[in-house]
Amino acid sequence: MNLTFLGIGQVGGALAINLVAKGHAVTIAARDPQSDSVRAAQQREPRLRALPPAEAVAAAEVVFLATPYAAAEATVTALASLLAGKVLVDCTNPVGPGLSHGLGSTRSGAEVVQSAAPKASVVKAFTIYGFENFIDSAYPGYGELRPAMLLAGDDAAAKETVAQLCTHLGWEPVDTGPLSTSLHLEHLTLLWIKMARVQGHGPNLVWARLRRA
Ligand SMILES: NC(=O)c1ccc[n+]([C@@H]2O[C@H](COP(=O)([O-])OP(=O)(O)OC[C@H]3O[C@@H](n4cnc5c(N)ncnc54)[C@H](OP(=O)(O)O)[C@@H]3O)[C@@H](O)[C@H]2O)c1
Repeated sequence: MNLTFLGIGQVGGALAINLVAKGHAVTIAARDPQSDSVRAAQQREPRLRALPPAEAVAAAEVVFLATPYAAAEATVTALASLLAGKVLVDCTNPVGPGLSHGLGSTRSGAEVVQSAAPKASVVKAFTIYGFENFIDSAYPGYGELRPAMLLAGDDAAAKETVAQLCTHLGWEPVDTGPLSTSLHLEHLTLLWIKMARVQGHGPNLVWARLRRA
């Protein structure tokens, strides 16, 4: 699949490198091809080509948004016409003071991103854990059980596409519902950050889905 990344830092870099390893054609939609994050990602994976954002997005089937949340709306607005009809994976998290929700828990960041590119199919994914788990998603010792990646979005086909990418990366995709559910995922992210980074559980902590008939 042709994929591109807006933002190639800790999250974007980890996902992009693992997706290249799984055989996907991945580019960096780079505002500055010489930036530290672009160069660091290319050092780790030389097959990651940096292209001007418009060119990269036009050629991609799936676009990952992995900028700081503060840059997300403007980044997406500038590319909105090119994003029409594409899957846009929102990996960003609006985080406010004291690990509160950055939009006051009134609306999800994913819905703000969707408003900025109304004709894109936004799927919230790859937000509920720290980047360490995007570098390495393996949790050995649990048999067939895979760590869960919770998704939300309004377009079933787009969610299925992202679910397949989750599976390639070692996650069990779990559809949590429409894009508005992203507000709950963003709160779950805050819980993960509090537990892993503040309370000392550490980053090797993920959720899994157990079910019984
Ligand atoms: N870190 C985590 O553990 C984690 C986990 C889940 C989700 N997230 C979310 O994922 C997003 C990225 O986090 P990160 O830790 O990967 O950040 P990061 O390491 O700081 O990387 C940010 C990336 O976005 C680019 N960028 C910065 N400002 C930009 C702008 N105005 N326009 C376009 N691109 C810009 C940077 O490019 P330059 O090199 O050009 O500055 C860099 O490639 C955030 O929204 C964060 O909340 C983070």
